[in-house]
Amino acid sequence: MAASATATSHTQVPVITIDGPTASGKGTITQGVARVLGWHTLDSGALYRLTALAARWHGADTTDAAEVARIASDLDVVFNDDIILLQGHNVTDTIRHEVIGSLASTIAAWQPVRDALLQRQRAFAKAPGLVADGRDMGTVVFPGAPLKIFLVADAMARAKRRYKQLKDKGISANLSDLAKDMEARDLRDTSRAHAPLLAAHDAHTIDSSSLTIDDTIRQVLGLWSGTRVPSGRP
Ligand code: DC
Repeated sequence: MAASATATSHTQVPVITIDGPTASGKGTITQGVARVLGWHTLDSGALYRLTALAARWHGADTTDAAEVARIASDLDVVFNDDIILLQGHNVTDTIRHEVIGSLASTIAAWQPVRDALLQRQRAFAKAPGLVADGRDMGTVVFPGAPLKIFLVADAMARAKRRYKQLKDKGISANLSDLAKDMEARDLRDTSRAHAPLLAAHDAHTIDSSSLTIDDTIRQVLGLWSGTRVPSGRP
């Protein structure tokens, strides 16, 4: 989070946006594409999750948009490779719990919270480039990005992936509860008034249900190598 708050998407830095529903594989694909290109990454969902966790820590009224927005503005966060520190505490795994994801989805529906996190997200656009994943990367945060991906996968494939992710982290989970929770979260994310989960009009949709991680990364890199970056645009 050391980047200056004034650095925005409207620099010369190239940005690839990867948006899509919960557990569609955005994070994994983002990391893979960024690794090949040697670029930075932004996990924007982590910022909403961190805000949700900080709100709980502060005993905030999580129905009060202004109070949660203040917490979002003041987030004391450090992204250090794979480790995320909130107020100096390692919360890398804590923010992945479903209860935090669910609260993140609720507070993410509020415009003041989204506004509070906007510049912080744009500040991640640093040379040589950024791969940004979330729900509104291509529509709101980096609308000028030269390559936008909308990554989808069918509901059962996503529930199974999330189940495996949680198990691997030692977090207990139940597949049918996960599928139900995911459905509720998708509905909230797509039906909210502000920055809903939506493919940008110029996004390429990739369905990863039956693709391997490597195949999906290859597809994105293939699209990137065919992308011409107009001068003066990010
Ligand atoms: O990608 P994720 O599951 O870590 O995101 C957690 C929640 O944050 C998700 O349910 C919706 C919200 N979110 C958002 O509204 N906009 C983003 N760009 C990223 C996440």
